[in-house]
Amino acid sequence: MPHGNCYLWKPGLVWLHLLSDAFIALAYASIPLTLIYFVYQRRNLPFSRIFLMFAAFIIACGTTHAMAIWTIWHPDYWLSGLVKAITALISVYTALELIPLMPKAFDVASAVELEAANKRLEAEIRERQQTEVALRRSQDEIQQKATLLEKALRDLQHAQAQLVHTEKMSSLGQLVAGLAHEINNPVNFIFGNLVHAKNYAQDLLKLISLYDKHYPQPVPEIQTTAEQMDLAFLRDDLPHLLESMEVGTKRIRQIVLSLRNFARMDQAEVKAVDLHEGLEGTLLILQNQLKAKPGYAEINIVKEYGDLPKVECYVGQLNQVFMNLLSNAIDALEESRTTDNGQNHPTIRIRTEAIAPNQVAIRIIDNGPGMTEKTQRQLFDPFFTTKPVGKGTGLGLSISYQIVVDKHQGQLNCRSAPGQGAEFAIAIPIQQHRQQQIPQPEVSLTA
Ligand SMILES: Nc1ncnc2c1ncn2[C@@H]1O[C@H](COP(=O)(O)OP(=O)(O)OP(=O)(O)O)[C@@H](O)[C@H]1O
Ligand SMILES: [Mg+2]
Repeated sequence: MPHGNCYLWKPGLVWLHLLSDAFIALAYASIPLTLIYFVYQRRNLPFSRIFLMFAAFIIACGTTHAMAIWTIWHPDYWLSGLVKAITALISVYTALELIPLMPKAFDVASAVELEAANKRLEAEIRERQQTEVALRRSQDEIQQKATLLEKALRDLQHAQAQLVHTEKMSSLGQLVAGLAHEINNPVNFIFGNLVHAKNYAQDLLKLISLYDKHYPQPVPEIQTTAEQMDLAFLRDDLPHLLESMEVGTKRIRQIVLSLRNFARMDQAEVKAVDLHEGLEGTLLILQNQLKAKPGYAEINIVKEYGDLPKVECYVGQLNQVFMNLLSNAIDALEESRTTDNGQNHPTIRIRTEAIAPNQVAIRIIDNGPGMTEKTQRQLFDPFFTTKPVGKGTGLGLSISYQIVVDKHQGQLNCRSAPGQGAEFAIAIPIQQHRQQQIPQPEVSLTA
């Protein structure tokens, strides 16, 4: 018998049940859809399984209400009972599943707790960001301090290098100046007296000629003595001898002058000088090292001196630069001096020229082994040397660079390649005080 009979087919009662069951069934159908949609959108949703079970449970409940509508007209109570039984199964299963989940569900933070935790996290992030900024600032400060320290260290190294080299050069200067002074006095003494010696000798020779003329037959004792001393040769040779003594003394005086010139290390102020004099003085000091020695060929010096005006400079310091460059060239030629095959004779060229109205260039060129690019990059670094310990301090070029570039506002360049020799070019202004107004051309290197 249809269930409608129980409602006595009263339209009001039937409609009331029908509509209520219909709405419940519809609502029960829509809720699981929402739940399933929610579970699939929130991939990491905790307890998603129980949500799906709720969905199944609600669908089952909805179906029982749909069956309630069906049974108003159709008495399929077995089917209706079966649907209820399935619903009961799902409900019981869901209820049983739900109970053990409770403690875990309690652990899930509430929205308020989440918000508080969120705020704590935000505060922590802000704090960390501030710490990061402070850290970066202190890192910058440390970096700046490290840069300053590095610069101070470099300056110190430079100062030390300069001290060591200045000390070395000033000792050499003092030695040379002392020697020049000691030699100068006796040489002047000899040179001054040579004139008189020549006059006296001429007078005496004249007197002997007169004796010869008026006493052609001297006593035998005079005759014997004259023969013994080979008077004829003596009379002929004495003027030549005195002449060569004069030439020799003049040469010594010249050397002394060059030595004194070289030793003008202590001159603190700028002076207009002939740079060739400085070069000559330096060559003189180094002459012994240029000469041929057993097993060592002589080093040729080719002077290609141009027409240079007087140059305002710290002459002692510039001589120091010439000394460093020439010494380096001599050192570089050491090997080729021992293996000289005559084709590439060890040679140093010194070329000077005026390269601009206010600038002169001095080039020191050797045909030694040259340098690799790596060596050239470090050439002017203090303490860089490829020479054995005790031979080179590695200061020569760094000091020279400082003297030419910092002290004279000039340029010091090097051009070299392995097996191609080396060329060092110095360019300095003729007038120190005007150098800032006149643009300086780049010194070009010519092999
Ligand atoms: N003319 C050159 N030919 C080849 N190498 C050179 C020449 N001049 C300099 N060098 C290289 O440059 C290096 C540095 O030269 P620098 O004059 O500064 O120091 P040093 O000669 O080694 O020592 P110091 O001059 O202090 O006694 C030398 O060790 C050498 O390797
Ligand atoms: Mg050197």
